[in-house]
Amino acid sequence: MTELHLWLRHESRTTERRTPVVPSDARRLVERGMTLTVEDSPQRIFPIEAYEEAGCRVAAPGSWVSAPPDTVIAGLKELPDEPAELRHRHVFFGHAYKEQPGAAALLGRFLAGGGALLDLEYLVDDEGRRLAAFGYWAGYLGAALAVLHHEGRLRTPLRPASKEELDAELAAVTGQPRTLVIGALGRSGRGARAALAVAGNEPTCWDLAETRELDRAALLEHEVMVNTVLTTRPIPPFLTDKDLDEPGRRLRTLCDVTCDVGSPMNVLPVYDTTTDWAHPVRRLREQPALDLIAIDNLPSLLPREASVDFSAALLPLLLDFETGGPWDRCLARFHQAGRELGAKEGEFRHV
Ligand SMILES: NC(=O)c1ccc[n+]([C@@H]2O[C@H](COP(=O)([O-])OP(=O)(O)OC[C@H]3O[C@@H](n4cnc5c(N)ncnc54)[C@H](O)[C@@H]3O)[C@@H](O)[C@H]2O)c1
Repeated sequence: MTELHLWLRHESRTTERRTPVVPSDARRLVERGMTLTVEDSPQRIFPIEAYEEAGCRVAAPGSWVSAPPDTVIAGLKELPDEPAELRHRHVFFGHAYKEQPGAAALLGRFLAGGGALLDLEYLVDDEGRRLAAFGYWAGYLGAALAVLHHEGRLRTPLRPASKEELDAELAAVTGQPRTLVIGALGRSGRGARAALAVAGNEPTCWDLAETRELDRAALLEHEVMVNTVLTTRPIPPFLTDKDLDEPGRRLRTLCDVTCDVGSPMNVLPVYDTTTDWAHPVRRLREQPALDLIAIDNLPSLLPREASVDFSAALLPLLLDFETGGPWDRCLARFHQAGRELGAKEGEFRHV
């Protein structure tokens, strides 16, 4: 039995239809004694009635701000800008530890309110491996959009679909561009390879071993590149502006699943803003053309599949919430970030 009160919040990002806990897993949590409050949400892929039937309490969108202080608030994407001070423990993807834009402001809100960020990206086992991630579906969608765009078959604006619909579009692809997946052995890389397989395409696969001595000329020989690398330390970029201006470049479509734009870990410093569902493709170069796809919420385009997989991975961790382990590591990472921020602000004060 667990005393935990978990509060599933409505996502403020209007295109976010995923959820970290699906109704069937909510039922399992309730059966184990957890109190689960679910905010009604117009866009969540699962209707609120399914959570109600699973034994959850229902609350209004955004009402987590007045939840009892011990409640753990769960979501996926960014919090709304208000309140300025965050007093709860929040489980979501904060994107706050790699000096991303807005990271210091978010940490500052937690420090001001006495709350804590339990960042899902840092929910790891004792060997540092991620325990719950959307990577597979991010890679799947990134490669799918890249190849569909390259073949002139991408329909915009993008909208969430089912896997059957997406696969039917991929199966209809007839061209066979030379494709490259970097980070091919990871979760997103596996997803990218799976999507390309549905399109009948066999990509070149690079991971750590193949990029140690990066062959840029070989890279630029590919027509479609999908970057799915996750690096935790700055490394030399895979592409620079100079490479894009190479006259012999065959690369036409670049999909950056990683989307580390603005971070020191960025391996593709050839663009400075991500793209989105309304405008998924941005032209980076003319003659020869080079188009960029860099969407930071790719798995939301397959909200059902992505939520079901993620929730299945998160369920055992939520059941063990009070025993610590991975959650303690998340909390320690948050405290470290808080100390680093405090030290940095101290430095600025002394300049
Ligand atoms: N755009 C989106 O919507 C979205 C969604 C989820 C995840 N992501 C991002 O996708 C990225 C990949 O996530 P993942 O779950 O697949 O990670 P992962 O750890 O499973 O895989 C990363 C892979 O990159 C490889 N790699 C690391 N450094 C490399 C290098 N220098 N050269 C070549 N390969 C290298 C690793 O060996 C590993 O195989 C992350 O940055 C993650 O934040 C994006």
